[in-house]
Amino acid sequence: MSLQNQKVIIVGGSSGIGFGVAAELLSRGAEVVLVGRSAEKLKRAQERLGSESRVRVAATDARQEDQVVQLFATIGTFDHLVTTSGILPYNAPIGAVDATKARELIDTIMMIPLLLTKHSQGRLRTGGSITFTSGISKDRPGPGGAVVAAAAGSLSYLARALALELGPTRVNVVSPGWVDTPMWDAIVGEAKKGMWEQMGKRLPAGRIASPADVAKAYVYLIESELTTGTTLSIDGGHALI
Ligand SMILES: NC(=O)c1ccc[n+]([C@@H]2O[C@H](COP(=O)([O-])OP(=O)(O)OC[C@H]3O[C@@H](n4cnc5c(N)ncnc54)[C@H](OP(=O)(O)O)[C@@H]3O)[C@@H](O)[C@H]2O)c1
Repeated sequence: MSLQNQKVIIVGGSSGIGFGVAAELLSRGAEVVLVGRSAEKLKRAQERLGSESRVRVAATDARQEDQVVQLFATIGTFDHLVTTSGILPYNAPIGAVDATKARELIDTIMMIPLLLTKHSQGRLRTGGSITFTSGISKDRPGPGGAVVAAAAGSLSYLARALALELGPTRVNVVSPGWVDTPMWDAIVGEAKKGMWEQMGKRLPAGRIASPADVAKAYVYLIESELTTGTTLSIDGGHALI
């Protein structure tokens, strides 16, 4: 119960990686606030986690600054902030990039962490932590992957600058490889199982990660009082292949 009496906000906590982080933090005694746009998804996540008093939910579109202000006004003070919010990746050859779609992705991947950090000031405990989520697509961009790579990659530099500005509060990034989450069901559907088998054979670690696997990286960054400005990869060796 290493995180007893610690309150953690998880933006993106209603699904996938964020949900796995919530389950892991709860098992260590923390109190969690799950944030996402869909109230229905949040309710289902709360039920799956046992609906106990240590789980609260707050329906918020974190791209909207007024909603972020309202979120922190409702939640009050807290110890740690985790962002795992994301939408489907937008891939297109550079000559065909749609500016509206590119902005939508940048708004979600880059602006949400920025707005949350801005408005957490004065509510996030000094000496607590902020952990953003990027991903392997910044290191190994797929075809037409420039927008995703740039947006995800920017978080490492955002974290380095904020670590300097906000110390002793710590600011870090978790960079997962492929993780088995609902996002993949939307991207590849039924083909997922075959893809996991093939990729598992190629990865040095021998298998695709679950949300529970990557949750350990978030716990480490929340607990490690001397780790700040860092990007921690947990990708099964994906960056090497
Ligand atoms: N899965 C992977 O293999 C993988 C690998 C590397 C990096 N990543 C990155 O990790 C992050 C999480 O991925 P995931 O697979 O866990 O995705 P996921 O299962 O689709 O979860 C995304 C979460 O973000 C929330 N969200 C989206 N837009 C939001 C907004 N504007 N405001 C507040 N919450 C918002 C969603 O809830 P609502 O839809 O209700 O808002 C949901 O809770 C993403 O940034 C993704 O790019 C994923």
